Amino acid sequence: MSAAWGFDTRQVHAGAIVDAEAGARITPIYQSAGYVFDDFDDGEERFAGRSARRAYSRNDNPTNVVAARRIADLEGGVDGVLVASGQAAIAAALGALAQAGDHILTTDRLYEGTREMARGALRRMGLELEAVPIDADEDAWAAAVGPETRAIYAESIANPLGEVADLDLLGRVSKRTGVPLVVDNTVATPYLCRPFEHGAAVVIHSTSKWLSGHGSVIGGAIVDGGTFDWDAAAARFPHLHAPRPHGAPSFAERYGAAAYAAYLRAVVVLEHGPSFPPTSAFLLLHGIETLSLRMERHVANARVVAEALTRHPAVARVHYPGSDDDPRRAVVARMLPRGVGSIVSIDLGTRDAAHAFLDRLRLVSQMTHIGDVRTLAIHTGSTIHGKLDEAERLALGITPGLVRISVGIEEAQDIVDDLLQALDVLAPRSAAECDAVLQPEVH
Ligand SMILES: Cc1ncc(COP(=O)(O)O)c(C=O)c1O
Repeated sequence: MSAAWGFDTRQVHAGAIVDAEAGARITPIYQSAGYVFDDFDDGEERFAGRSARRAYSRNDNPTNVVAARRIADLEGGVDGVLVASGQAAIAAALGALAQAGDHILTTDRLYEGTREMARGALRRMGLELEAVPIDADEDAWAAAVGPETRAIYAESIANPLGEVADLDLLGRVSKRTGVPLVVDNTVATPYLCRPFEHGAAVVIHSTSKWLSGHGSVIGGAIVDGGTFDWDAAAARFPHLHAPRPHGAPSFAERYGAAAYAAYLRAVVVLEHGPSFPPTSAFLLLHGIETLSLRMERHVANARVVAEALTRHPAVARVHYPGSDDDPRRAVVARMLPRGVGSIVSIDLGTRDAAHAFLDRLRLVSQMTHIGDVRTLAIHTGSTIHGKLDEAERLALGITPGLVRISVGIEEAQDIVDDLLQALDVLAPRSAAECDAVLQPEVH
Protein backbone atom coordinates (compact mmCIF):
# COMPACT_ATOMS: atom_id res chain seq x y z
CA MET A 1 0.00 0.00 0.00
CA SER A 2 1.49 3.31 -1.04
CA ALA A 3 0.55 6.50 0.75
CA ALA A 4 1.15 8.26 -2.58
CA TRP A 5 -1.75 6.50 -4.28
CA GLY A 6 -4.79 8.58 -5.06
CA PHE A 7 -8.21 8.24 -3.45
CA ASP A 8 -9.63 6.14 -6.31
CA THR A 9 -6.80 3.63 -5.96
CA ARG A 10 -6.91 3.50 -2.18
CA GLN A 11 -10.69 2.94 -2.10
CA VAL A 12 -10.01 -0.30 -4.04
CA HIS A 13 -6.79 -1.45 -2.36
CA ALA A 14 -6.21 0.10 1.07
CA GLY A 15 -5.96 -2.50 3.81
CA ALA A 16 -6.66 -5.40 1.42
CA ILE A 17 -5.25 -8.80 2.23
CA VAL A 18 -4.61 -11.77 -0.02
CA ASP A 19 -6.01 -14.82 1.69
CA ALA A 20 -3.05 -17.00 2.74
CA GLU A 21 -4.78 -20.34 2.18
CA ALA A 22 -6.53 -19.92 -1.19
CA GLY A 23 -4.92 -16.77 -2.58
CA ALA A 24 -8.34 -15.14 -2.97
CA ARG A 25 -7.95 -11.60 -4.32
CA ILE A 26 -11.21 -10.45 -2.80
CA THR A 27 -11.12 -10.14 0.99
CA PRO A 28 -12.96 -13.27 2.19
CA ILE A 29 -15.79 -13.30 4.70
CA TYR A 30 -14.21 -14.72 7.84
CA GLN A 31 -17.45 -15.84 9.41
CA SER A 32 -15.86 -17.26 12.53
CA ALA A 33 -16.65 -16.47 16.15
CA GLY A 34 -13.17 -17.25 17.37
CA TYR A 35 -9.58 -18.23 16.46
CA VAL A 36 -7.83 -21.41 17.58
CA PHE A 37 -5.04 -20.96 20.10
CA ASP A 38 -1.75 -22.74 19.39
CA ASP A 39 -1.67 -23.90 22.97
CA PHE A 40 -2.46 -22.88 26.56
CA ASP A 41 0.21 -20.18 26.75
CA ASP A 42 -0.84 -18.67 23.41
CA GLY A 43 -4.41 -18.28 24.74
CA GLU A 44 -3.15 -16.43 27.78
CA GLU A 45 -0.94 -14.15 25.66
CA ARG A 46 -3.81 -13.26 23.32
CA PHE A 47 -6.16 -12.45 26.18
CA ALA A 48 -3.54 -10.33 27.90
CA GLY A 49 -3.05 -8.33 24.68
CA ARG A 50 0.61 -9.34 24.59
CA SER A 51 0.15 -11.18 21.31
CA ALA A 52 -0.95 -9.36 18.15
CA ARG A 53 -3.03 -12.41 17.20
CA ARG A 54 -6.76 -12.20 17.64
CA ALA A 55 -8.92 -14.10 20.10
CA TYR A 56 -12.60 -13.42 19.39
CA SER A 57 -14.70 -11.75 16.68
CA ARG A 58 -16.70 -9.59 19.06
CA ASN A 59 -14.08 -6.89 18.67
CA ASP A 60 -11.60 -8.30 16.17
CA ASN A 61 -12.46 -10.01 12.89
CA PRO A 62 -10.19 -10.13 9.80
CA THR A 63 -12.85 -9.06 7.27
CA ASN A 64 -13.89 -6.19 9.51
CA VAL A 65 -10.28 -5.13 10.02
CA VAL A 66 -9.80 -4.74 6.26
CA ALA A 67 -12.90 -2.55 5.95
CA ALA A 68 -11.98 -0.51 9.04
CA ARG A 69 -8.43 0.07 7.76
CA ARG A 70 -9.77 1.10 4.37
CA ILE A 71 -12.10 3.71 5.88
CA ALA A 72 -9.30 4.92 8.16
CA ASP A 73 -7.00 5.23 5.16
CA LEU A 74 -9.54 7.20 3.12
CA GLU A 75 -10.11 9.55 6.04
CA GLY A 76 -6.37 9.93 6.61
CA GLY A 77 -6.55 8.44 10.12
CA VAL A 78 -4.31 5.96 11.91
CA ASP A 79 -6.79 3.27 12.96
CA GLY A 80 -10.44 2.39 12.59
CA VAL A 81 -13.05 0.27 14.36
CA LEU A 82 -16.32 -1.04 12.96
CA VAL A 83 -19.45 -1.29 15.08
CA ALA A 84 -23.00 -2.46 14.54
CA SER A 85 -24.59 0.79 13.27
CA GLY A 86 -24.08 4.51 12.99
CA GLN A 87 -25.92 4.91 16.30
CA ALA A 88 -23.52 2.43 17.88
CA ALA A 89 -20.61 4.43 16.44
CA ILE A 90 -21.86 7.63 18.10
CA ALA A 91 -22.45 5.86 21.43
CA ALA A 92 -19.08 4.08 21.37
CA ALA A 93 -17.14 7.15 20.19
CA LEU A 94 -18.53 9.25 23.03
CA GLY A 95 -18.39 6.37 25.51
CA ALA A 96 -14.64 6.11 24.94
CA LEU A 97 -14.24 9.77 25.92
CA ALA A 98 -16.81 10.55 28.59
CA GLN A 99 -18.38 9.15 31.73
CA ALA A 100 -21.17 10.10 34.14
CA GLY A 101 -20.94 13.76 35.09
CA ASP A 102 -19.17 14.76 31.89
CA HIS A 103 -20.31 17.27 29.31
CA ILE A 104 -20.28 17.23 25.51
CA LEU A 105 -20.75 20.24 23.26
CA THR A 106 -22.55 19.76 19.97
CA THR A 107 -23.75 21.96 17.17
CA ASP A 108 -27.48 22.62 17.23
CA ARG A 109 -27.88 20.94 13.84
CA LEU A 110 -27.68 17.15 14.20
CA TYR A 111 -29.35 14.02 12.92
CA GLU A 112 -32.43 13.45 15.10
CA GLY A 113 -31.28 9.97 16.16
CA THR A 114 -28.22 11.56 17.75
CA ARG A 115 -30.35 14.19 19.49
CA GLU A 116 -32.68 11.43 20.69
CA MET A 117 -29.71 9.53 22.15
CA ALA A 118 -28.51 12.72 23.83
CA ARG A 119 -31.80 13.32 25.65
CA GLY A 120 -32.40 9.61 26.24
CA ALA A 121 -29.70 6.99 26.82
CA LEU A 122 -26.78 9.39 27.24
CA ARG A 123 -28.62 11.57 29.75
CA ARG A 124 -29.68 8.49 31.74
CA MET A 125 -26.01 7.49 31.82
CA GLY A 126 -25.16 10.90 33.30
CA LEU A 127 -23.80 12.66 30.23
CA GLU A 128 -24.94 16.19 29.49
CA LEU A 129 -25.00 17.28 25.85
CA GLU A 130 -25.25 21.01 25.23
CA ALA A 131 -26.02 22.47 21.80
CA VAL A 132 -24.24 25.57 20.53
CA PRO A 133 -25.54 27.37 17.39
CA ILE A 134 -23.70 26.02 14.36
CA ASP A 135 -22.72 29.54 13.31
CA ALA A 136 -21.47 30.66 16.76
CA ASP A 137 -18.03 32.28 16.67
CA GLU A 138 -14.81 30.82 18.03
CA ASP A 139 -14.95 32.67 21.35
CA ALA A 140 -18.54 31.55 21.98
CA TRP A 141 -17.53 27.93 21.43
CA ALA A 142 -14.44 28.23 23.61
CA ALA A 143 -16.49 29.91 26.36
CA ALA A 144 -18.90 26.95 26.35
CA VAL A 145 -16.08 24.50 27.11
CA GLY A 146 -15.84 23.68 30.81
CA PRO A 147 -13.61 21.46 32.94
CA GLU A 148 -16.01 18.54 32.42
CA THR A 149 -16.23 18.90 28.62
CA ARG A 150 -14.93 15.77 26.90
CA ALA A 151 -15.82 16.32 23.25
CA ILE A 152 -16.97 18.85 20.68
CA TYR A 153 -19.31 17.03 18.33
CA ALA A 154 -20.49 18.11 14.87
CA GLU A 155 -21.82 16.75 11.59
CA SER A 156 -19.79 17.94 8.61
CA ILE A 157 -23.05 18.14 6.61
CA ALA A 158 -26.05 18.03 8.93
CA ASN A 159 -28.98 15.73 8.28
CA PRO A 160 -31.64 16.74 7.13
CA LEU A 161 -31.17 20.46 6.27
CA GLY A 162 -27.59 20.29 5.03
CA GLU A 163 -26.02 22.96 7.26
CA VAL A 164 -22.24 22.70 6.95
CA ALA A 165 -20.12 22.97 10.10
CA ASP A 166 -17.00 25.15 10.03
CA LEU A 167 -14.57 22.42 11.07
CA ASP A 168 -11.59 24.80 10.86
CA LEU A 169 -13.18 26.96 13.52
CA LEU A 170 -14.11 23.97 15.68
CA GLY A 171 -10.60 22.56 15.16
CA ARG A 172 -9.13 25.80 16.52
CA VAL A 173 -11.45 25.60 19.54
CA SER A 174 -10.33 22.00 20.08
CA LYS A 175 -6.68 23.08 20.01
CA ARG A 176 -7.27 26.05 22.34
CA THR A 177 -9.18 24.03 24.91
CA GLY A 178 -7.62 20.56 24.68
CA VAL A 179 -11.00 18.96 23.96
CA PRO A 180 -11.16 16.56 20.98
CA LEU A 181 -13.34 17.35 17.99
CA VAL A 182 -15.52 14.40 16.92
CA VAL A 183 -17.08 14.67 13.46
CA ASP A 184 -19.91 12.63 12.00
CA ASN A 185 -18.82 12.59 8.35
CA THR A 186 -21.64 10.32 7.14
CA VAL A 187 -23.32 12.68 4.69
CA ALA A 188 -20.10 14.10 3.21
CA THR A 189 -18.04 10.86 3.14
CA PRO A 190 -14.23 11.08 3.02
CA TYR A 191 -14.48 11.79 -0.70
CA LEU A 192 -16.08 15.19 -0.12
CA CYS A 193 -14.80 16.20 3.30
CA ARG A 194 -11.64 15.34 5.23
CA PRO A 195 -12.25 16.35 8.86
CA PHE A 196 -8.75 15.42 10.09
CA GLU A 197 -7.29 18.07 7.79
CA HIS A 198 -9.42 20.64 9.62
CA GLY A 199 -8.51 19.67 13.18
CA ALA A 200 -10.78 16.73 14.03
CA ALA A 201 -9.50 14.05 16.41
CA VAL A 202 -12.13 11.40 15.66
CA VAL A 203 -14.40 10.77 12.67
CA ILE A 204 -17.47 8.59 12.82
CA HIS A 205 -19.70 7.20 10.09
CA SER A 206 -22.94 5.48 9.61
CA THR A 207 -21.54 3.04 7.06
CA SER A 208 -25.15 2.15 6.26
CA LYS A 209 -25.25 5.20 3.99
CA TRP A 210 -22.94 6.25 1.10
CA LEU A 211 -19.95 4.12 2.16
CA SER A 212 -21.97 0.92 1.63
CA GLY A 213 -24.13 2.77 -0.82
CA HIS A 214 -26.61 0.12 -1.83
CA GLY A 215 -29.05 0.10 1.06
CA SER A 216 -28.11 -3.42 2.09
CA VAL A 217 -26.02 -2.90 5.22
CA ILE A 218 -26.43 -1.39 8.68
CA GLY A 219 -23.11 -0.48 10.24
CA GLY A 220 -20.90 2.16 11.76
CA ALA A 221 -17.24 3.11 11.88
CA ILE A 222 -15.03 5.17 14.17
CA VAL A 223 -11.67 6.46 12.93
CA ASP A 224 -8.88 7.77 15.12
CA GLY A 225 -7.02 10.55 13.34
CA GLY A 226 -3.89 10.17 15.44
CA THR A 227 -4.04 13.96 15.55
CA PHE A 228 -4.92 14.56 19.20
CA ASP A 229 -2.38 14.96 21.99
CA TRP A 230 -3.75 12.55 24.61
CA ASP A 231 -0.77 13.17 26.90
CA ALA A 232 -1.42 16.90 27.06
CA ALA A 233 -5.09 16.13 27.85
CA ALA A 234 -4.31 13.43 30.45
CA ALA A 235 -6.37 15.16 33.14
CA ARG A 236 -9.53 14.94 31.03
CA PHE A 237 -8.92 11.35 29.91
CA PRO A 238 -7.35 9.49 32.85
CA HIS A 239 -8.67 6.13 31.56
CA LEU A 240 -6.23 6.30 28.64
CA HIS A 241 -3.34 6.82 31.06
CA ALA A 242 -4.28 4.42 33.86
CA PRO A 243 -2.07 1.36 34.42
CA ARG A 244 -3.61 -1.83 33.07
CA PRO A 245 -3.88 -5.28 34.67
CA HIS A 246 -0.67 -7.18 35.45
CA GLY A 247 1.49 -4.08 35.07
CA ALA A 248 0.76 -3.67 31.36
CA PRO A 249 1.43 -0.16 30.02
CA SER A 250 -1.47 2.29 29.70
CA PHE A 251 -3.17 2.75 26.33
CA ALA A 252 -1.38 6.10 25.87
CA GLU A 253 2.01 4.53 26.61
CA ARG A 254 1.50 1.51 24.42
CA TYR A 255 -0.38 3.00 21.46
CA GLY A 256 0.66 6.68 21.49
CA ALA A 257 -1.29 8.68 18.90
CA ALA A 258 -3.64 5.71 18.29
CA ALA A 259 -4.48 5.26 22.00
CA TYR A 260 -8.11 6.24 21.48
CA ALA A 261 -8.83 3.57 18.83
CA ALA A 262 -7.02 0.95 20.89
CA TYR A 263 -9.14 1.78 23.95
CA LEU A 264 -12.29 1.77 21.85
CA ARG A 265 -11.56 -1.71 20.49
CA ALA A 266 -10.11 -3.31 23.60
CA VAL A 267 -12.52 -1.85 26.16
CA VAL A 268 -15.66 -0.20 24.76
CA VAL A 269 -16.43 -2.68 21.97
CA LEU A 270 -15.25 -5.64 24.03
CA GLU A 271 -17.42 -4.69 27.02
CA HIS A 272 -20.56 -3.43 25.25
CA GLY A 273 -20.32 -5.81 22.28
CA PRO A 274 -21.80 -3.80 19.35
CA SER A 275 -20.16 -6.17 16.85
CA PHE A 276 -20.20 -5.65 13.09
CA PRO A 277 -21.13 -8.76 11.04
CA PRO A 278 -18.31 -9.81 8.65
CA THR A 279 -20.86 -10.46 5.89
CA SER A 280 -21.75 -6.78 6.16
CA ALA A 281 -18.05 -5.85 6.02
CA PHE A 282 -17.82 -7.77 2.73
CA LEU A 283 -20.71 -5.73 1.29
CA LEU A 284 -19.28 -2.54 2.77
CA LEU A 285 -15.93 -3.17 1.05
CA HIS A 286 -17.68 -3.63 -2.29
CA GLY A 287 -19.48 -0.34 -1.74
CA ILE A 288 -16.31 1.55 -0.82
CA GLU A 289 -14.58 0.35 -4.01
CA THR A 290 -16.87 2.62 -6.06
CA LEU A 291 -17.34 5.44 -3.54
CA SER A 292 -15.76 8.26 -5.57
CA LEU A 293 -17.61 7.24 -8.75
CA ARG A 294 -20.94 7.12 -6.99
CA MET A 295 -20.32 10.36 -5.09
CA GLU A 296 -19.59 12.25 -8.28
CA ARG A 297 -22.89 11.08 -9.74
CA HIS A 298 -24.77 11.68 -6.46
CA VAL A 299 -23.39 15.22 -6.29
CA ALA A 300 -24.13 16.02 -9.93
CA ASN A 301 -27.66 14.61 -9.73
CA ALA A 302 -28.39 16.50 -6.51
CA ARG A 303 -27.36 19.77 -8.13
CA VAL A 304 -29.74 19.14 -11.02
CA VAL A 305 -32.55 18.17 -8.65
CA ALA A 306 -32.00 21.22 -6.42
CA GLU A 307 -32.06 23.55 -9.43
CA ALA A 308 -35.19 21.98 -10.87
CA LEU A 309 -37.04 22.09 -7.55
CA THR A 310 -36.04 25.70 -6.91
CA ARG A 311 -37.96 26.67 -10.02
CA HIS A 312 -41.18 24.84 -9.19
CA PRO A 313 -44.03 27.02 -7.85
CA ALA A 314 -45.11 24.37 -5.30
CA VAL A 315 -41.74 24.51 -3.56
CA ALA A 316 -41.56 27.22 -0.91
CA ARG A 317 -37.90 26.60 -0.07
CA VAL A 318 -35.02 24.33 -1.05
CA HIS A 319 -32.46 23.42 1.63
CA TYR A 320 -29.28 22.56 -0.22
CA PRO A 321 -25.78 23.62 0.81
CA GLY A 322 -24.88 24.39 -2.79
CA SER A 323 -27.48 27.19 -3.09
CA ASP A 324 -26.11 30.54 -4.21
CA ASP A 325 -27.99 32.26 -1.38
CA ASP A 326 -26.58 29.97 1.35
CA PRO A 327 -25.33 32.41 4.03
CA ARG A 328 -22.46 30.00 4.80
CA ARG A 329 -21.25 29.77 1.21
CA ALA A 330 -17.64 30.49 2.11
CA VAL A 331 -17.65 27.76 4.78
CA VAL A 332 -19.27 25.33 2.34
CA ALA A 333 -16.62 26.00 -0.30
CA ARG A 334 -13.79 25.53 2.23
CA MET A 335 -15.19 22.31 3.73
CA LEU A 336 -16.56 20.69 0.58
CA PRO A 337 -14.35 21.52 -2.39
CA ARG A 338 -15.55 18.50 -4.41
CA GLY A 339 -19.27 18.97 -3.97
CA VAL A 340 -21.93 19.44 -1.34
CA GLY A 341 -23.40 15.95 -1.11
CA SER A 342 -26.74 14.62 -2.23
CA ILE A 343 -29.35 15.59 0.32
CA VAL A 344 -31.90 18.07 -0.96
CA SER A 345 -34.72 18.98 1.41
CA ILE A 346 -37.76 20.92 0.25
CA ASP A 347 -40.50 22.78 2.06
CA LEU A 348 -43.89 22.29 0.43
CA GLY A 349 -45.70 24.61 2.84
CA THR A 350 -48.03 22.17 4.57
CA ARG A 351 -48.10 18.61 5.80
CA ASP A 352 -51.00 17.91 3.40
CA ALA A 353 -48.93 19.07 0.45
CA ALA A 354 -46.03 16.85 1.53
CA HIS A 355 -48.45 13.95 1.94
CA ALA A 356 -49.92 14.41 -1.56
CA PHE A 357 -46.45 14.82 -3.11
CA LEU A 358 -44.93 11.74 -1.48
CA ASP A 359 -47.86 9.48 -2.27
CA ARG A 360 -47.60 10.46 -5.94
CA LEU A 361 -43.95 9.45 -6.40
CA ARG A 362 -43.32 6.46 -8.67
CA LEU A 363 -39.58 6.09 -9.16
CA VAL A 364 -38.56 7.64 -5.86
CA SER A 365 -39.11 5.39 -2.82
CA GLN A 366 -40.77 6.76 0.29
CA MET A 367 -38.63 5.42 3.12
CA THR A 368 -36.21 6.32 5.89
CA HIS A 369 -32.62 6.03 4.74
CA ILE A 370 -30.06 8.15 2.94
CA GLY A 371 -27.03 7.49 0.77
CA ASP A 372 -28.60 4.76 -1.35
CA VAL A 373 -28.03 4.40 -5.10
CA ARG A 374 -31.82 4.78 -5.29
CA THR A 375 -33.49 8.15 -4.74
CA LEU A 376 -35.44 8.15 -1.46
CA ALA A 377 -37.80 10.68 0.10
CA ILE A 378 -39.42 11.13 3.50
CA HIS A 379 -41.63 13.53 5.45
CA THR A 380 -39.38 13.83 8.48
CA GLY A 381 -41.92 15.68 10.69
CA SER A 382 -44.21 12.66 10.89
CA THR A 383 -41.44 10.07 11.08
CA ILE A 384 -37.87 10.86 12.18
CA HIS A 385 -38.96 14.02 14.02
CA GLY A 386 -42.36 12.59 14.97
CA LYS A 387 -41.58 12.39 18.70
CA LEU A 388 -41.07 16.15 18.90
CA ASP A 389 -43.87 18.67 19.29
CA GLU A 390 -44.53 21.32 16.66
CA ALA A 391 -42.56 24.05 18.45
CA GLU A 392 -39.53 21.77 18.89
CA ARG A 393 -39.64 20.85 15.22
CA LEU A 394 -39.88 24.46 14.13
CA ALA A 395 -36.93 25.40 16.33
CA LEU A 396 -34.88 22.88 14.33
CA GLY A 397 -36.17 24.18 11.00
CA ILE A 398 -38.41 21.14 10.50
CA THR A 399 -41.41 22.87 8.97
CA PRO A 400 -44.72 21.00 8.46
CA GLY A 401 -44.16 20.65 4.70
CA LEU A 402 -40.53 19.51 4.87
CA VAL A 403 -39.53 16.56 2.68
CA ARG A 404 -35.98 15.21 2.68
CA ILE A 405 -34.76 13.76 -0.59
CA SER A 406 -31.64 11.60 -0.77
CA VAL A 407 -30.73 11.83 -4.42
CA GLY A 408 -29.58 8.57 -5.99
CA ILE A 409 -27.49 7.73 -9.02
CA GLU A 410 -30.29 7.02 -11.50
CA GLU A 411 -30.59 9.14 -14.67
CA ALA A 412 -30.99 12.71 -13.44
CA GLN A 413 -33.77 13.35 -15.94
CA ASP A 414 -35.80 10.42 -14.61
CA ILE A 415 -35.45 11.60 -11.01
CA VAL A 416 -36.41 15.16 -11.93
CA ASP A 417 -39.37 13.98 -14.03
CA ASP A 418 -40.73 11.90 -11.16
CA LEU A 419 -40.38 14.71 -8.63
CA LEU A 420 -41.93 17.27 -10.98
CA GLN A 421 -44.92 15.12 -11.94
CA ALA A 422 -45.66 14.72 -8.21
CA LEU A 423 -45.22 18.45 -7.58
CA ASP A 424 -47.46 19.35 -10.52
CA VAL A 425 -50.40 17.89 -8.58
CA LEU A 426 -49.86 20.58 -5.96
CA ALA A 427 -49.26 23.50 -8.32
CA PRO A 428 -49.31 22.91 -12.07
CA ARG A 429 -46.51 24.75 -13.84
CA SER A 430 -47.07 27.25 -16.61
CA ALA A 431 -45.49 26.47 -20.00
CA ALA A 432 -42.74 29.00 -19.24
CA GLU A 433 -42.02 27.34 -15.89
CA CYS A 434 -41.85 23.95 -17.59
CA ASP A 435 -39.32 25.32 -20.07
CA ALA A 436 -37.29 26.87 -17.27
CA VAL A 437 -36.45 23.51 -15.75
CA LEU A 438 -32.88 22.79 -16.69
CA GLN A 439 -32.05 19.76 -18.69
CA PRO A 440 -29.77 17.56 -16.57
CA GLU A 441 -26.16 17.19 -17.61
CA VAL A 442 -25.41 14.16 -19.73
CA HIS A 443 -23.03 11.79 -17.95
C1 LIG B 1 -25.69 11.70 10.09
C2 LIG B 1 -26.09 10.37 10.64
N1 LIG B 1 -25.37 9.81 11.63
C3 LIG B 1 -25.72 8.64 12.16
C4 LIG B 1 -26.83 7.95 11.73
C5 LIG B 1 -27.20 6.65 12.36
O1 LIG B 1 -26.82 5.61 11.52
P1 LIG B 1 -27.47 4.14 11.52
O2 LIG B 1 -28.83 4.28 10.91
O3 LIG B 1 -26.52 3.33 10.72
O4 LIG B 1 -27.53 3.71 12.94
C6 LIG B 1 -27.60 8.48 10.70
C7 LIG B 1 -28.79 7.78 10.22
O5 LIG B 1 -29.53 8.28 9.43
C8 LIG B 1 -27.21 9.73 10.15
O6 LIG B 1 -27.93 10.30 9.17
